[in-house]
Amino acid sequence: MYLLIPAAGIGKRMGSNRNKLLLKVRSQPIIAWTLLAAEAANTISWIGIISQPTDWPDFNAIIADLKLTKPVELIQGGSTRQESVYNGLQSLPVAAEQVLIHDGARCLATPDLFNSCAQAIRHCPGLIAGVSVKDTIKVVDEQGIIQETPDRRKLWAAQTPQGFDVKLLKQCHAEGVRQGWEVTDDAALFEKCGIEVRIVEGEETNLKVTTPQDLAIAEFILTTRGF
Ligand code: CTP
Ligand code: MG
Repeated sequence: MYLLIPAAGIGKRMGSNRNKLLLKVRSQPIIAWTLLAAEAANTISWIGIISQPTDWPDFNAIIADLKLTKPVELIQGGSTRQESVYNGLQSLPVAAEQVLIHDGARCLATPDLFNSCAQAIRHCPGLIAGVSVKDTIKVVDEQGIIQETPDRRKLWAAQTPQGFDVKLLKQCHAEGVRQGWEVTDDAALFEKCGIEVRIVEGEETNLKVTTPQDLAIAEFILTTRGF
């Protein structure tokens, strides 16, 4: 299975002056933990890291240090996640029929989750890892007034990995460019094009490291895993 890792963000909400994926959690940079999980997932055979060229010296040093056995390619990122994934899709080897896309910032996803998504995408056009929400979610207007309380039993928090048929995802991304759609994950493009996307049970610990508090939580989870 081919894996694309969007890693070209700036980490604004982290408040750091460099790509948050280069910040260390326990002994390793965030991106290194993500790569170690991908390396340990036996279904993954190729890894493309979508990233900004200014970060390439750091990423190359991390890759060398990890002594990964799988082929790893650096692909130039764009100014939004959507653009970054678009670039990644253009750089996939021609043999790629399906792809998993996994945020570099979700450094706690387990190899098992990669493997279950890689297995499942052989039987459907699109899927995402997700967990049912624990909080009651409110839809709120600009004045801070609640508009609606959707039925919680129908609400899922989207995670990555997200898996897709490559040909279909390329078509959906092209349609997104034509229509000017702005989305925060690839499943949303499938949904807008009317293609079914399945949920695979994700992991409660598979958080997206976004804020300084998340760094502390990630540290804690890695500690419980013995790192
Ligand atoms: N990403 C990307 N290209 C971009 C923006 C984001 O590849 N132009 C990647 C990030 O590196 C991250 C993933 O998409 O692995 C999820 O994005 P997010 O958590 O929002 O990271 P940042 O965009 O870096 O953070 P922020 O939104 O706080 O600036
Ligand atoms: Mg972002």
